[in-house]
Amino acid sequence: MADTTLMDKLVSLCKRRGFVFQSSEIYGGLGSVWDYGPLGVELKKNVKDRWWDAMVHARDDIEGLDAAILMHPKVWEASGHVAGFTDPLVDCRQCKNRFRADDPRIKGTPGQPEAQCPVCGTRGSLTEPRMFNLMFKTFMGPVEESAAVVYLRPETAQGIYVNYLNVLQSSRQRIPFGIAQIGKAFRNEITPGNFIFRTREFEQMEMQFFVQPGTDAEWFERWREWRMEWHRSLGLDPAKLQWHQHAGSELAHYAKAAFDIQYQFPFGWQEIEGIHNRGDFDLGRHQEYSGKKLEYFDQAQNQRYLPNIVETSAGADRVTLTLLVDAYREEQVEGETRVVLGLLPSLAPIKAGVFPLVKKDGMPDVATTLYHDLRRQFACFYDDSGAIGRRYRRMDEAGTPFGVTVDGDTLSGGTVTVRHRDSMQQERVGLDQVAGYIKEKLGAGS
Ligand code: GAP
Repeated sequence: MADTTLMDKLVSLCKRRGFVFQSSEIYGGLGSVWDYGPLGVELKKNVKDRWWDAMVHARDDIEGLDAAILMHPKVWEASGHVAGFTDPLVDCRQCKNRFRADDPRIKGTPGQPEAQCPVCGTRGSLTEPRMFNLMFKTFMGPVEESAAVVYLRPETAQGIYVNYLNVLQSSRQRIPFGIAQIGKAFRNEITPGNFIFRTREFEQMEMQFFVQPGTDAEWFERWREWRMEWHRSLGLDPAKLQWHQHAGSELAHYAKAAFDIQYQFPFGWQEIEGIHNRGDFDLGRHQEYSGKKLEYFDQAQNQRYLPNIVETSAGADRVTLTLLVDAYREEQVEGETRVVLGLLPSLAPIKAGVFPLVKKDGMPDVATTLYHDLRRQFACFYDDSGAIGRRYRRMDEAGTPFGVTVDGDTLSGGTVTVRHRDSMQQERVGLDQVAGYIKEKLGAGS
């Protein structure tokens, strides 16, 4: 399968099966904004739950937080986003299109007579680069004036920094400790694209770990290891995961050191998570701009200091896309193409499809009763329309690991068939044992 078509096939499957739809589609869509359908919302929720379990529930040293999207505008001055969260842009005076100054399609140097617009081809029509801030602005209250400007947060991290003392004191944690948060972030990206890879509205799963200065490099290495392990635990092909270290020129304004975890997408190696050693940049700046002391008093060492921060920052949408890309496969089965999403069962949006073989002989009644019983325990889908083979195929495309079919032997012998998505093997399981059987499989290495 050519890689260029894989993304097209995936976008089409996502729409067909209800994973992801274009935002405001009936109005022609809104650029690089996407909506999650019934299966997509479950898949992304499973990603977020798994992250939350690993970061918050499984650890004694990390607390959760859900800070507001809107924050005091001074937060973004202190964070450096007002001054530094910018991309250089050029306009074409002829066709009015706008590009990043480093757009590889531009021939020549923007602002110079020989430079050529990549869309209309006019020479000399591109302006000199101008800096463009990626934050979305809006107004708080009834008056649209500069004093009322607020921003939609471009990262969730700042909500953690400004709450760090609140969390520290109320949870009675001691340094080293972390704060984890999942939430929406917004960036007016100039070159968004590749489906849900780079969008203007997205969700981040961020954790800020507060440590004693001097121990930051050591914690940074630990977190690098733990985060890579987490991505591997999602069942991703390990050969498609790699590290990318930021060179000095690539480092964000807040970072002392940074590594990206990259995945090999059909459109190249790209970042899915960043691990950053932010030093004391953030707390130092918030202390300066707010005028409030943000130091920590270390009783054991009788020492006062501004903690350093190690950040792990992953995109929930990007991880969801990674899972979809990694799981997509096509197989030839009896002369037909079978499309399968080989998701880890624990991440699959639907765990089991329940089917009466035919719509007669009491099979729908038994299947419906079974379905109602199973859906109390895990996500299920009931389907009685079309040939059984087609119903299996629909579930294969949705990534559903188990298909449970009620047939003639169910009525006479009290057993059903359980079909496995990957092997397509079927086995007979007692009607009263199906729930336990599937739960056991979901728990085992998944
Ligand atoms: N707080 C640090 C921070 O925000 P980042 O590298 O700009 O760092 C972290 O973003 C992660 O957020 C990325 O690895 C990616 O997964 C996700 N992300 C960033 N911009 C995104 C966008 N426009 N669309 C989707 N996900 C995005």
